[in-house]
Amino acid sequence: MAIEEIEMELLEARVPDQVARLIETSSRDWARFFADYDDRQAPRFVPSVPELVFSALEEVTQRNLPPNRVFCEWGSGFATAACMASLLGYKAYGIEIEEELVRRSRAIARRLRIPVEIICTSMFPKGYNSYPGVDRAELVRPASFSDPNHPDSRPLRYDGMDMDIAEIGLFFAYPWAEEQELIQELFDAVAIAGAILISYHTAKEICVFRKVDE
Ligand SMILES: C[S@@+](CC[C@H](N)C(=O)[O-])C[C@H]1O[C@@H](n2cnc3c(N)ncnc32)[C@H](O)[C@@H]1O
Repeated sequence: MAIEEIEMELLEARVPDQVARLIETSSRDWARFFADYDDRQAPRFVPSVPELVFSALEEVTQRNLPPNRVFCEWGSGFATAACMASLLGYKAYGIEIEEELVRRSRAIARRLRIPVEIICTSMFPKGYNSYPGVDRAELVRPASFSDPNHPDSRPLRYDGMDMDIAEIGLFFAYPWAEEQELIQELFDAVAIAGAILISYHTAKEICVFRKVDE
């Protein structure tokens, strides 16, 4: 398997009213979160620029790039991207490792009545992990990855999710700089052929990848 990059021209689009309300609410809650933690040890979280993320989600949707309407935000933080995907008609999931962020993001979705499922777990499914390399993190894969007859070789699923990872058509992630390649490797390892990954690197660089059969 492999991934290919897809050309995109992304502009900060005007957002519909419901999305504007979500952005307003999320921004207020980010401010509260950073104030609550002040100089205490806060969960490591930096929000992406939601208007740009919406523009990317809208563009891939309008171009009908994802093979289905199931969305997953890896490392969802306040799950703003997952909520926007839900508003665009996706069945949307957020996967977040920090309980506090899961609690706050669920509260926002509930308050705005946006159907989204946020699961408190690692984005690395069972058997996968990240390994800190010299200048970038590397993906650890389970033995079953290269051996389809391995006893653990069954469809991957996050605990608490009611579908397999292979049923997700669109992924979004905002990885730390040293984890950008790791996220692409994870996507290549676990997504179904045809699935799309939006990888937000900076407000000036958002990359879109498709998983392809070699
Ligand atoms: C840069 S923030 C991005 C948050 C959000 N996606 C956004 O765009 O605003 C990265 C998020 O990934 C979460 N995270 C880091 N490692 C993770 C892991 N292994 N599994 C799930 N979430 C993780 C962090 O707690 C943090 O909320």
